Amino acid sequence: MSVSVVVGAQWGDEAKGKIVDLLAQNARYVVRYAGGSNAGHTVCVNGASYKFHLIPSGVLHPHVTAVIADGVVMDLRAFAAESDALQAQGVDLSRLRIGLGVHLTLPYHRLLDELEEAQLEGRLGTTKRGIGPTYADKAWRVGVRVADLMDRDRFAQRVHRVLQRRNPTIQRVYNAAPIDADALITEFASYAERIRPHVCDVPHLLMNAAERSESILLEGAQGTLLDLDYGTYPYVTSSHPVAAGACLGTGIAPNRLRAIWGVAKAYTTRVGEGPFPTELTDERGDWIRNRGREYGTTTGRARRVGWLDLVALRYAARVNGFTALAVTLLDVLSGLDTLKVCVAYRLNGAVTREFVADAPTLSRCEPVYETLPGWSEPIGACRALHELPANARAYLQYIQNYVGVPIRLVSVGAAREQTIQCE
Ligand code: GDP
Ligand code: IMO
Ligand code: MG
Repeated sequence: MSVSVVVGAQWGDEAKGKIVDLLAQNARYVVRYAGGSNAGHTVCVNGASYKFHLIPSGVLHPHVTAVIADGVVMDLRAFAAESDALQAQGVDLSRLRIGLGVHLTLPYHRLLDELEEAQLEGRLGTTKRGIGPTYADKAWRVGVRVADLMDRDRFAQRVHRVLQRRNPTIQRVYNAAPIDADALITEFASYAERIRPHVCDVPHLLMNAAERSESILLEGAQGTLLDLDYGTYPYVTSSHPVAAGACLGTGIAPNRLRAIWGVAKAYTTRVGEGPFPTELTDERGDWIRNRGREYGTTTGRARRVGWLDLVALRYAARVNGFTALAVTLLDVLSGLDTLKVCVAYRLNGAVTREFVADAPTLSRCEPVYETLPGWSEPIGACRALHELPANARAYLQYIQNYVGVPIRLVSVGAAREQTIQCE
């Protein structure tokens, strides 16, 4: 199994970071393939908690080469802050590699994202990290890449050119102060030197590694339902978190993907705006939010919480081709008498098991629930399936049967060892 992918199966924050750290024990390369510093991945090892936004969550293992591949967009201010924080915790970042084709999130992208989110109408609830404007410039072919930054004149030329277009928008449409191109160029010259030793041709690095059958783990950010094409547009991010995005973002050919891991919480959360059929806005939602500490790693926002949506999860399994599931945060549900899982949607009087990605239509879908018995025991100390309460095992079995993908990992706490490997 030389190339594996870890994909978020819901709306993000499924504990991909924890699962990547675990699977990285057997990987030579761990590669972030999409998104930017909108991601927040937490890994808990030996009582310490590490927060990753751009840097791959496998970097804690000394044998791993961590790679930021070309599909990622990189805010170098955020990268500098993240690197400083990790190094202060003793993390060795010398083996980090950064792709020449990575697009830079520059201060005007972040500003435009903030200005757009400040308008009430059409607001998406983004992380305001400049993600949409960066990918938009990439598609518009006026983006600035790491390769440009490596040559000061080329970088200055690209920045001046794009600011000629963006500054009038910033001033006239949003009534905000323009970005000073020269100050930006000077500031980023120092970041250029900081990342230069890490920069390389990532597609060739990975293609060569794959041909040598070295083990490569591709780390997704966000989740399937936030995918630009397969998520609940326009309440999505601007990249492709799905497994196909891992190929686009890294240069690894699709026929090399062996294991495709879907990571799903035992319930559902969502941050930002957009339809969420199984959302709980009552005290049970508050109870789950508090037990699961459902507050964002990146923005600190309270996450919206709801029952497990199996219709959405089966869709994610089909879109990605999951070969294995990791079910996380199962411990959070201990103490509920009964649990609900959504097994169909009711729409215009008809019942369907097919996910509805069109946002306005999804907001009209009513969940059809199955009620399953809960369990009261804490399960954070369980290390094997047979140690789980019978109803917790039945809950997992129900998910596996509905989705049609084997559950291979169950997470019962944030720590690395709070994990059950299933046969
Ligand atoms: P990611 O974005 O998918 O990597 O997920 P986040 O790191 O944003 O959110 C998952 C949160 O749950 C983090 O704070 C993790 O430390 C924590 N976590 C991971 N696995 C478990 C688990 O099995 N149980 C509990 N209670 N917390 C977990
Ligand atoms: P990880 O990798 C959860 C959401 C935002 C917003 C939408 C668009 O930690 O799972 P963006 O800033 O990307 O333009 O925001 O996407 N979002 C996430 N939600 N986890 C994430 O990342 C997210 N990254 C973006 O809340 O609704
Ligand atoms: Mg997160």
